[in-house]
Amino acid sequence: MRKSFLFTLILILVFPFSLYADEIKIGSCIYRFNDAFMLRFRNAMSAECEKIGAEIEIADSQNDQNTQNEQVDGFISNGVNVLIINPVNRMEAQPIIDQAKAANIPVVFINREPAPEMLASYERAYYVGAKAEESGTQSGELLAEYFKTHPEADKNHDGKLQFILLKGENGHQDMILRSKYSVEAIKNAGIEPVEIASAIANWDKLQAMNIMNGFVMSIGPENIEAVLANNDEMALGAVETLKNSDYNKGNSEMYIPVVGVDANASALDAMDKGEMLGTVLNDADNQGMAAVRLAVALASGKDINSIGYEITDGKYIWIPYQKVTRGEKN
Ligand code: GAL
Ligand code: CA
Repeated sequence: MRKSFLFTLILILVFPFSLYADEIKIGSCIYRFNDAFMLRFRNAMSAECEKIGAEIEIADSQNDQNTQNEQVDGFISNGVNVLIINPVNRMEAQPIIDQAKAANIPVVFINREPAPEMLASYERAYYVGAKAEESGTQSGELLAEYFKTHPEADKNHDGKLQFILLKGENGHQDMILRSKYSVEAIKNAGIEPVEIASAIANWDKLQAMNIMNGFVMSIGPENIEAVLANNDEMALGAVETLKNSDYNKGNSEMYIPVVGVDANASALDAMDKGEMLGTVLNDADNQGMAAVRLAVALASGKDINSIGYEITDGKYIWIPYQKVTRGEKN
Protein backbone atom coordinates (compact mmCIF):
# COMPACT_ATOMS: atom_id res chain seq x y z
CA MET A 1 0.00 0.00 0.00
CA ARG A 2 2.62 2.48 1.15
CA LYS A 3 4.95 1.31 -1.56
CA SER A 4 2.47 1.90 -4.35
CA PHE A 5 1.63 5.27 -2.89
CA LEU A 6 5.31 6.19 -2.96
CA PHE A 7 5.57 4.93 -6.50
CA THR A 8 2.63 7.05 -7.61
CA LEU A 9 4.11 10.05 -5.83
CA ILE A 10 7.40 9.58 -7.62
CA LEU A 11 5.59 9.20 -10.93
CA ILE A 12 3.72 12.44 -10.31
CA LEU A 13 6.90 14.27 -9.35
CA VAL A 14 9.01 12.95 -12.19
CA PHE A 15 6.39 12.83 -14.91
CA PRO A 16 3.91 15.48 -13.92
CA PHE A 17 2.27 15.40 -17.37
CA SER A 18 2.69 11.87 -18.62
CA LEU A 19 -0.30 10.81 -16.56
CA TYR A 20 -2.74 12.55 -18.84
CA ALA A 21 -0.87 13.91 -21.85
CA ASP A 22 -1.00 10.79 -23.97
CA GLU A 23 -4.61 11.31 -24.98
CA ILE A 24 -4.11 14.89 -26.11
CA LYS A 25 -3.89 15.87 -29.77
CA ILE A 26 -2.49 19.33 -30.52
CA GLY A 27 -2.98 21.08 -33.86
CA SER A 28 -0.42 23.79 -34.48
CA CYS A 29 0.20 26.34 -37.24
CA ILE A 30 3.46 28.25 -37.74
CA TYR A 31 3.26 31.43 -39.83
CA ARG A 32 6.02 30.07 -42.09
CA PHE A 33 8.47 27.23 -41.65
CA ASN A 34 11.27 29.09 -43.39
CA ASP A 35 12.08 31.25 -40.34
CA ALA A 36 15.18 30.49 -38.28
CA PHE A 37 13.71 31.44 -34.91
CA MET A 38 10.41 29.66 -35.50
CA LEU A 39 12.36 26.51 -36.39
CA ARG A 40 13.83 26.57 -32.87
CA PHE A 41 10.32 27.12 -31.53
CA ARG A 42 8.93 24.15 -33.50
CA ASN A 43 11.72 21.89 -32.32
CA ALA A 44 11.07 22.89 -28.72
CA MET A 45 7.36 22.09 -29.02
CA SER A 46 8.02 18.72 -30.65
CA ALA A 47 10.60 17.84 -28.00
CA GLU A 48 8.20 18.64 -25.16
CA CYS A 49 5.39 16.66 -26.78
CA GLU A 50 7.71 13.72 -27.17
CA LYS A 51 8.71 14.00 -23.53
CA ILE A 52 5.19 14.07 -22.16
CA GLY A 53 3.66 11.78 -24.76
CA ALA A 54 1.28 14.27 -26.37
CA GLU A 55 0.59 14.18 -30.07
CA ILE A 56 1.27 17.29 -32.16
CA GLU A 57 0.78 18.09 -35.81
CA ILE A 58 2.48 21.26 -37.00
CA ALA A 59 1.39 22.91 -40.27
CA ASP A 60 3.32 25.44 -42.37
CA SER A 61 0.98 28.39 -43.01
CA GLN A 62 3.35 29.66 -45.72
CA ASN A 63 2.88 33.26 -44.71
CA ASP A 64 -0.76 33.23 -45.85
CA GLN A 65 -3.59 33.94 -43.41
CA ASN A 66 -6.23 32.20 -45.57
CA THR A 67 -4.11 29.06 -45.74
CA GLN A 68 -3.79 29.18 -41.97
CA ASN A 69 -7.52 29.60 -41.41
CA GLU A 70 -8.14 26.54 -43.59
CA GLN A 71 -5.55 24.57 -41.64
CA VAL A 72 -7.34 25.50 -38.42
CA ASP A 73 -10.63 24.33 -39.94
CA GLY A 74 -8.96 21.05 -40.85
CA PHE A 75 -7.55 20.53 -37.37
CA ILE A 76 -10.93 21.17 -35.82
CA SER A 77 -12.77 18.76 -38.09
CA ASN A 78 -10.07 16.17 -37.41
CA GLY A 79 -10.89 16.46 -33.72
CA VAL A 80 -7.77 18.02 -32.18
CA ASN A 81 -8.18 18.84 -28.48
CA VAL A 82 -6.33 22.14 -28.52
CA LEU A 83 -4.67 24.61 -30.93
CA ILE A 84 -1.28 26.32 -30.74
CA ILE A 85 -1.27 29.12 -33.29
CA ASN A 86 1.46 31.43 -34.56
CA PRO A 87 -0.74 33.81 -36.56
CA VAL A 88 0.35 35.03 -39.98
CA ASN A 89 -1.24 38.38 -39.16
CA ARG A 90 -1.72 38.94 -35.45
CA MET A 91 -4.43 41.53 -36.21
CA GLU A 92 -6.45 38.82 -37.93
CA ALA A 93 -6.48 36.38 -35.03
CA GLN A 94 -10.18 36.96 -34.31
CA PRO A 95 -11.57 34.46 -36.87
CA ILE A 96 -9.31 31.76 -35.40
CA ILE A 97 -10.51 32.57 -31.91
CA ASP A 98 -14.10 32.40 -33.15
CA GLN A 99 -13.46 29.02 -34.79
CA ALA A 100 -11.92 27.64 -31.60
CA LYS A 101 -14.74 29.05 -29.51
CA ALA A 102 -17.41 27.52 -31.73
CA ALA A 103 -15.70 24.13 -31.36
CA ASN A 104 -15.14 24.77 -27.64
CA ILE A 105 -11.45 23.94 -27.77
CA PRO A 106 -8.73 26.06 -26.15
CA VAL A 107 -6.29 28.07 -28.27
CA VAL A 108 -2.79 29.17 -27.29
CA PHE A 109 -1.24 31.88 -29.47
CA ILE A 110 2.53 32.10 -29.71
CA ASN A 111 5.13 34.67 -30.81
CA ARG A 112 2.67 37.04 -32.54
CA GLU A 113 0.50 38.68 -29.96
CA PRO A 114 -3.22 39.18 -30.69
CA ALA A 115 -4.81 42.36 -29.33
CA PRO A 116 -5.99 42.06 -25.70
CA GLU A 117 -9.64 42.49 -26.70
CA MET A 118 -9.34 39.51 -29.05
CA LEU A 119 -7.97 37.29 -26.27
CA ALA A 120 -10.66 38.66 -23.97
CA SER A 121 -13.40 37.51 -26.38
CA TYR A 122 -12.85 33.84 -25.44
CA GLU A 123 -12.06 32.60 -21.94
CA ARG A 124 -10.04 29.70 -23.35
CA ALA A 125 -7.67 31.89 -25.46
CA TYR A 126 -4.10 32.45 -24.20
CA TYR A 127 -0.75 33.87 -25.29
CA VAL A 128 2.79 32.59 -24.72
CA GLY A 129 5.63 34.88 -25.74
CA ALA A 130 8.22 37.36 -24.62
CA LYS A 131 7.94 41.08 -23.87
CA ALA A 132 9.05 42.81 -27.04
CA GLU A 133 10.06 46.00 -25.22
CA GLU A 134 12.45 44.02 -23.03
CA SER A 135 14.42 42.77 -26.04
CA GLY A 136 14.53 46.30 -27.47
CA THR A 137 15.86 47.73 -24.23
CA GLN A 138 18.48 45.01 -23.88
CA SER A 139 19.81 45.34 -27.42
CA GLY A 140 20.03 49.13 -27.05
CA GLU A 141 21.87 48.68 -23.75
CA LEU A 142 24.36 46.32 -25.37
CA LEU A 143 25.19 48.91 -27.98
CA ALA A 144 25.35 51.78 -25.47
CA GLU A 145 27.74 49.80 -23.27
CA TYR A 146 29.98 49.18 -26.26
CA PHE A 147 29.90 52.83 -27.32
CA LYS A 148 30.88 53.95 -23.83
CA THR A 149 33.78 51.55 -23.50
CA HIS A 150 35.06 52.06 -27.07
CA PRO A 151 35.67 55.77 -27.74
CA GLU A 152 36.89 54.91 -31.27
CA ALA A 153 33.32 53.79 -32.07
CA ASP A 154 32.34 57.45 -32.28
CA LYS A 155 33.88 57.74 -35.73
CA ASN A 156 32.99 61.39 -36.40
CA HIS A 157 33.76 62.44 -32.79
CA ASP A 158 30.47 64.26 -32.27
CA GLY A 159 29.51 62.37 -29.10
CA LYS A 160 26.41 61.01 -30.86
CA LEU A 161 25.68 57.54 -32.19
CA GLN A 162 24.90 57.46 -35.92
CA PHE A 163 23.04 54.20 -36.46
CA ILE A 164 21.12 52.22 -39.06
CA LEU A 165 17.92 50.44 -38.04
CA LEU A 166 16.81 47.22 -39.77
CA LYS A 167 13.22 46.45 -38.94
CA GLY A 168 11.16 43.25 -38.93
CA GLU A 169 7.77 42.72 -40.50
CA ASN A 170 5.41 45.68 -40.48
CA GLY A 171 2.85 45.55 -37.64
CA HIS A 172 4.62 42.82 -35.66
CA GLN A 173 4.86 43.76 -31.97
CA ASP A 174 8.55 42.84 -32.02
CA MET A 175 9.18 45.21 -34.92
CA ILE A 176 7.36 48.12 -33.34
CA LEU A 177 8.61 47.76 -29.77
CA ARG A 178 12.18 46.59 -30.43
CA SER A 179 12.68 49.57 -32.75
CA LYS A 180 11.29 51.98 -30.18
CA TYR A 181 12.91 50.63 -27.02
CA SER A 182 16.38 49.98 -28.42
CA VAL A 183 16.71 53.64 -29.36
CA GLU A 184 15.15 54.65 -26.05
CA ALA A 185 17.74 52.61 -24.13
CA ILE A 186 20.59 54.39 -25.93
CA LYS A 187 19.10 57.73 -24.89
CA ASN A 188 18.64 56.53 -21.33
CA ALA A 189 22.31 55.57 -21.25
CA GLY A 190 23.12 59.23 -21.90
CA ILE A 191 24.05 58.89 -25.58
CA GLU A 192 22.24 60.78 -28.31
CA PRO A 193 21.13 58.35 -31.03
CA VAL A 194 20.95 59.64 -34.61
CA GLU A 195 19.11 57.41 -37.07
CA ILE A 196 20.88 57.84 -40.39
CA ALA A 197 18.76 55.27 -42.22
CA SER A 198 16.15 52.62 -41.57
CA ALA A 199 14.20 50.05 -43.56
CA ILE A 200 11.95 47.03 -43.20
CA ALA A 201 13.67 43.75 -44.07
CA ASN A 202 10.93 41.36 -42.84
CA TRP A 203 13.17 39.34 -40.48
CA ASP A 204 15.01 38.15 -43.59
CA LYS A 205 18.77 37.85 -44.09
CA LEU A 206 18.80 38.31 -47.85
CA GLN A 207 16.53 41.35 -47.75
CA ALA A 208 18.72 42.88 -45.04
CA MET A 209 21.85 42.19 -47.09
CA ASN A 210 20.46 44.01 -50.10
CA ILE A 211 19.13 46.93 -48.11
CA MET A 212 22.39 47.26 -46.20
CA ASN A 213 24.29 47.18 -49.46
CA GLY A 214 22.31 50.21 -50.65
CA PHE A 215 23.01 52.03 -47.39
CA VAL A 216 26.73 51.26 -47.44
CA MET A 217 26.95 52.57 -51.01
CA SER A 218 25.00 55.77 -50.38
CA ILE A 219 26.26 56.58 -46.88
CA GLY A 220 29.72 55.05 -46.82
CA PRO A 221 30.69 52.49 -44.19
CA GLU A 222 33.02 55.00 -42.52
CA ASN A 223 29.95 57.08 -41.64
CA ILE A 224 28.01 54.25 -40.02
CA GLU A 225 28.63 53.85 -36.28
CA ALA A 226 26.26 50.97 -35.53
CA VAL A 227 23.54 48.72 -36.88
CA LEU A 228 20.51 47.83 -34.78
CA ALA A 229 18.57 44.91 -36.23
CA ASN A 230 15.21 43.66 -34.92
CA ASN A 231 16.47 40.06 -35.25
CA ASP A 232 19.61 38.01 -35.85
CA GLU A 233 18.88 37.04 -39.45
CA MET A 234 18.79 40.71 -40.47
CA ALA A 235 21.86 41.43 -38.31
CA LEU A 236 23.68 38.63 -40.14
CA GLY A 237 22.58 40.06 -43.49
CA ALA A 238 24.13 43.40 -42.46
CA VAL A 239 27.30 41.63 -41.32
CA GLU A 240 27.53 39.82 -44.65
CA THR A 241 27.35 43.12 -46.55
CA LEU A 242 29.89 44.76 -44.25
CA LYS A 243 32.27 41.85 -44.76
CA ASN A 244 32.02 42.44 -48.51
CA SER A 245 33.31 45.97 -47.80
CA ASP A 246 36.14 44.52 -45.71
CA TYR A 247 34.46 45.50 -42.45
CA ASN A 248 33.67 43.13 -39.56
CA LYS A 249 36.04 40.42 -40.63
CA GLY A 250 37.15 39.81 -37.09
CA ASN A 251 39.91 42.44 -36.92
CA SER A 252 38.97 45.40 -34.76
CA GLU A 253 40.28 48.09 -37.15
CA MET A 254 37.41 48.09 -39.64
CA TYR A 255 34.41 47.39 -37.47
CA ILE A 256 30.83 48.49 -37.06
CA PRO A 257 29.00 47.05 -34.05
CA VAL A 258 25.93 45.08 -35.16
CA VAL A 259 23.31 43.94 -32.67
CA GLY A 260 20.44 41.50 -33.24
CA VAL A 261 17.82 39.57 -31.27
CA ASP A 262 17.13 35.81 -30.96
CA ALA A 263 20.54 34.25 -30.17
CA ASN A 264 20.26 31.82 -33.06
CA ALA A 265 23.29 29.54 -33.45
CA SER A 266 24.49 31.36 -36.57
CA ALA A 267 24.53 34.68 -34.70
CA LEU A 268 26.45 33.21 -31.75
CA ASP A 269 28.90 31.86 -34.28
CA ALA A 270 29.35 35.30 -35.90
CA MET A 271 29.85 36.79 -32.44
CA ASP A 272 32.54 34.22 -31.63
CA LYS A 273 34.33 35.26 -34.82
CA GLY A 274 34.16 38.93 -33.86
CA GLU A 275 31.84 39.77 -36.76
CA MET A 276 28.83 40.76 -34.69
CA LEU A 277 28.66 42.55 -31.32
CA GLY A 278 25.77 40.91 -29.55
CA THR A 279 22.25 39.62 -29.41
CA VAL A 280 19.42 38.97 -26.98
CA LEU A 281 18.27 35.46 -26.19
CA ASN A 282 14.74 34.90 -27.44
CA ASP A 283 14.13 31.76 -25.41
CA ALA A 284 12.48 29.38 -27.89
CA ASP A 285 13.03 26.37 -25.63
CA ASN A 286 11.04 27.81 -22.76
CA GLN A 287 8.40 29.39 -24.99
CA GLY A 288 7.84 26.11 -26.81
CA MET A 289 7.74 24.11 -23.62
CA ALA A 290 5.37 26.56 -21.93
CA ALA A 291 3.03 26.61 -24.94
CA VAL A 292 2.77 22.81 -25.01
CA ARG A 293 2.32 22.45 -21.26
CA LEU A 294 -0.34 25.16 -21.22
CA ALA A 295 -2.13 23.58 -24.18
CA VAL A 296 -2.10 20.13 -22.60
CA ALA A 297 -3.27 21.44 -19.22
CA LEU A 298 -6.11 23.37 -20.85
CA ALA A 299 -7.18 20.42 -22.99
CA SER A 300 -7.18 18.01 -20.08
CA GLY A 301 -8.81 20.36 -17.61
CA LYS A 302 -5.80 20.45 -15.28
CA ASP A 303 -4.79 23.46 -13.22
CA ILE A 304 -2.83 25.78 -15.51
CA ASN A 305 -1.08 27.22 -12.45
CA SER A 306 0.77 23.98 -11.88
CA ILE A 307 2.69 23.73 -15.18
CA GLY A 308 5.86 25.40 -13.96
CA TYR A 309 5.24 28.75 -15.68
CA GLU A 310 3.56 31.75 -14.14
CA ILE A 311 0.25 32.85 -15.67
CA THR A 312 -0.02 36.65 -15.80
CA ASP A 313 -3.34 38.52 -16.05
CA GLY A 314 -5.07 35.17 -16.41
CA LYS A 315 -4.03 34.80 -20.07
CA TYR A 316 -0.30 35.27 -20.60
CA ILE A 317 2.95 33.42 -20.06
CA TRP A 318 5.95 35.74 -20.46
CA ILE A 319 9.39 34.22 -20.95
CA PRO A 320 12.22 36.63 -20.14
CA TYR A 321 14.88 37.78 -22.62
CA GLN A 322 18.59 37.74 -21.81
CA LYS A 323 21.52 39.76 -23.17
CA VAL A 324 24.21 37.71 -24.91
CA THR A 325 27.67 38.89 -25.96
CA ARG A 326 30.50 36.80 -27.38
CA GLY A 327 28.94 33.48 -26.50
CA GLU A 328 28.50 34.51 -22.88
CA LYS A 329 25.30 35.41 -21.15
CA ASN A 330 25.37 38.69 -19.21
C1 GAL B 1 10.45 37.21 -33.55
C2 GAL B 1 11.85 36.75 -33.89
C3 GAL B 1 12.07 36.86 -35.38
C4 GAL B 1 10.98 36.15 -36.13
C5 GAL B 1 9.60 36.57 -35.67
C6 GAL B 1 8.52 35.76 -36.33
O1 GAL B 1 10.22 37.04 -32.17
O2 GAL B 1 12.78 37.55 -33.21
O3 GAL B 1 13.33 36.35 -35.72
O4 GAL B 1 11.13 34.77 -35.93
O5 GAL B 1 9.50 36.45 -34.27
O6 GAL B 1 7.26 36.11 -35.86
CA1 CA C 1 29.13 59.91 -33.79
